[in-house]
Order: sequence, then structure tokens, then C-alpha cells
Amino acid sequence: MTNKYMYFIANWKMFGGLNSLNSLRKVTKFYKKFQKNRYAKIIYCPPSTLIRPMFKKLANSRIDVGGQNCHQNLSYGAFTGSVNPLMLKSVGAKYVIIGHSENRMSGETDKLINLKIKNSIKSGLKVIFCIGETYKDKKKKITKKVLSSQIKSGLKNIKNKKDIIIAYEPVWSIGTGLIPKTNELSETVKFIKRINKKLKVLYGGSVNPKNIEILKSINNIDGFLIGGASQDSKKFIDIIKKTYN
Ligand code: PGA
Repeated sequence: MTNKYMYFIANWKMFGGLNSLNSLRKVTKFYKKFQKNRYAKIIYCPPSTLIRPMFKKLANSRIDVGGQNCHQNLSYGAFTGSVNPLMLKSVGAKYVIIGHSENRMSGETDKLINLKIKNSIKSGLKVIFCIGETYKDKKKKITKKVLSSQIKSGLKNIKNKKDIIIAYEPVWSIGTGLIPKTNELSETVKFIKRINKKLKVLYGGSVNPKNIEILKSINNIDGFLIGGASQDSKKFIDIIKKTYN
């Protein structure tokens, strides 16, 4: 059965300009009615350039905005191209995605991820912490080992985990149209929750209006991190509606 309180996090990645914000109207209109008797929580994570204008556009909608990554430092500094957690917060972000596999692939280590999580929380942001095994890990049957190591290193010395949400995203399912088998995904969600009972666990990787019918049946899942399909308001709304149907 679908949990009452579900997260729907839109990860726009490096897509979207100012005109893409027009599509939000459909979502805010839908959400106004929908949220009355449900606990769906929508969070948009657009590219940094759109955080402020999106925040303004979503005013009074109860939809939150987040960043897709951040620099680990809390102080300002000579780090060309980077944005720190305080800067995200100052333009309206409430959340930040950390540890996405697309960033891990370009050299982000577990240690760096840990520091980013710590400092984001210090800045008052909530963290969407991404973990996931590669196809090679899956074939080698070391998924659980990889996930528990990512969780342990990422959350090292963090006592208060109330502002952390885990997004389990198998690397091989991101943008590929592939999703894990239901029994495997159920087992993985259970496994992650066993490591820390209080953590919310979302699934991400090729979520779309079709496969949501299967994904929503996963026991104890707390929501979804949605990439490609979240850029299309109709698909995004469909995913939310179908989750509760
Ligand atoms: P996808 O991306 O839904 O396009 O597979 C998910 C993500 O990378 O967060």
C-alpha cells in the first residue's frame, strides 16, 4: 500500500531556461486541489540559474525548491563555477541533492560527499542523499556491500539525520528506461531502512507514468526522484496521480 506521505522530487539536471518555468503553472494548479487530502510533497531541483525565479514562481504553492549539488565549503572563496550551501539557501532553496551518480562519476568521493552533507545541514538545508550501485556491482552481486559503504561513509559522524532523505538510484537505471525487479527493489529498500530505521528512502531511475504502477507497489517506499519525466509537467502530474490511485 502506498505510504500516506510521499516525496516527488524533480531533478531537472542541466535542462531548462526561464521559459521552462511556464510549465509550472499546470503543476501548481493541479497541486492546489490534490494536496487537500493527500500528503504528496513536491520539490523541484532546477539548475542553479533557475532556483530564484522558480522560487518566486512557486510562492504560496507549498512546492519547495532545491539545488542539485553544492560546494563543500561554508565560507566564500575562489572556487570558480561553484555555489555553496549558504548561497543556495539565500536564493530560496530548502533542499540540496548530494552524491548523485553523475557527480560521483566526475570524481566526487564519499569523503567529499560526507562534508557536503554536513555543511548543507549546518546551513539549514535538507539533503537528498543519492546512493546506488553500478551495473558491474550488480553483476558481481555486491549491491548491498556498495550501498552500505556509501551510506556509512556519507553519513559518518552525522548524529542528527532528520534532515536527510536517501534516494536509491541504481546507476544502470538512470536515463536507461530500466528499473529493478520488484522483489529486488523491495529487498533493497528494506535493507537500507535496516541500516537506519528513521531514514526515508526514495527510488530514482527512469521513473515514468507507466512504470509508476509497478514502483508504487514497493513496500515502504517514501517517494521518487524523477529526472527526465519531471521536465514534462503532464508526465510529472501523471506520476503523482497514479501513485495514489
Ligand atoms: P531519470 O533520472 O529519471 O531520467 O532516470 C533520475 C535521476 O538521475 O535523478
